Amino acid sequence: MSRISISWIFGFLALFAFAVAHATTTPSSGLPYTVGNITLANGIDVFYREAGPSNGTTLLLLHGFPSSSHQFRNFIPILAGHGYHVIAPDYPGFGFTTVPSSLNFAYSFTTLTDTVAAFLDAKNISSFIPYMHDYGGPVGYRLAIQRPQSILALISQNANAYLEGFGQSFWPPVVFPLWNATTPAEFQTAANPVNSTVLSLRGIQSQYTTGSAKPRLIEPEAYWLDYSLINEKPGNRDIQIDLLTDYRSNVPLYPSWQAYFRQMQPKLLAAWVKNDIIFVPPGAHAYKRDLPNAEVVLLDAGHFLLETNLAQQANIVLAFLRKNGL
Ligand SMILES: *[C@@H]1O[C@H](CO)[C@@H](O)[C@H](O)[C@H]1NC(C)=O
Ligand SMILES: *[C@@H]1O[C@H](CO)[C@@H](O)[C@H](O)[C@H]1NC(C)=O
Ligand SMILES: *[C@@H]1O[C@H](CO)[C@@H](O)[C@H](O)[C@H]1NC(C)=O
Ligand SMILES: *[C@@H]1O[C@H](CO)[C@@H](O)[C@H](O)[C@H]1NC(C)=O
Ligand SMILES: *[C@@H]1O[C@H](CO)[C@@H](O)[C@H](O)[C@H]1NC(C)=O
Repeated sequence: MSRISISWIFGFLALFAFAVAHATTTPSSGLPYTVGNITLANGIDVFYREAGPSNGTTLLLLHGFPSSSHQFRNFIPILAGHGYHVIAPDYPGFGFTTVPSSLNFAYSFTTLTDTVAAFLDAKNISSFIPYMHDYGGPVGYRLAIQRPQSILALISQNANAYLEGFGQSFWPPVVFPLWNATTPAEFQTAANPVNSTVLSLRGIQSQYTTGSAKPRLIEPEAYWLDYSLINEKPGNRDIQIDLLTDYRSNVPLYPSWQAYFRQMQPKLLAAWVKNDIIFVPPGAHAYKRDLPNAEVVLLDAGHFLLETNLAQQANIVLAFLRKNGL
């Protein structure tokens, strides 16, 4: 057979493969989720990722520091594929949500929660299951207290509601000095090391790699995106330091969240990781005190567990939802 006819055969094979690939791709597929944004009445433009049937049970994915809805990029299609309506907004100060500077927005867990609440109202979402990671905890639990009738269940991925959840190697040396500062000079002294470590590329990378049993599965794009968004937006480092400082405001609310757990007995899954240094396993077990029926699972992974243990976490979450008829 001549060279020419062999290359023709390969040409036809390639064309055939191309045709098959396109024939099996339905016209509506493409992105596993859609991206969009909604401009709220106050001018904040909330960016979000959304997937799944609009009549499915809504899972509201609430991201952690220093990431955005991007941390759920691989999780969303799995949940949507099981019939859930999945929606993941970026908070002000994170991801692709934009806040007009004319608003003089005060970044706090109160205003982050207010923004997510306004976003839910704009999307007409009146019942949902918060899936909370890290900063998603205070946002989700504040929402739950404000609109308990909307909450179908709660899922916590290292989203903290108990004092024993604070990792002693992170909070006391790194964040408590911000909380305790009483003068601008003390605040600056506390902010400098946060600025140069926690918000550096290395610091953000270590949020992904510390404690991970499979660091080779972590795509560098994830922490580079977080780092770029924090460092590209003017004033964003100060916003992040303000939010770490304001995290303090959640602690006095813990008793009210715990009272809500005791009184309402929401179905709760705490699917945490063993090796997080920020929110540690005693914080997961603590849910059992107020919610004896809470399901507590600990995975062998680090803070950003969906980067490395996606299928495992998805199976745990889907089994919890199925078990509870959700
Ligand atoms: C937000 O929505 C507007 C109008 O649809 C669009 O022009 C803009 O690119 C969107 N922004 C982002 C970040 O997606
Ligand atoms: C959602 O709508 C689809 C199509 O109309 C229907 O087949 C499905 O059963 C509905 N699902 C729920 C949970 O209502
Ligand atoms: C929400 O509901 C209102 C009133 O029914 C409607 O006008 C609006 O278009 C809905 N918005 C969305 C995003 O579905
Ligand atoms: C700072 O604040 C934390 C928590 O509010 C507290 O536990 C700690 O003892 C305080 N003092 C110092 C020096 O960090
Ligand atoms: C943090 O560092 C940036 C420069 O990288 C600076 O503009 C900002 O003022 C610093 N913030 C604080 C609170 O020290």
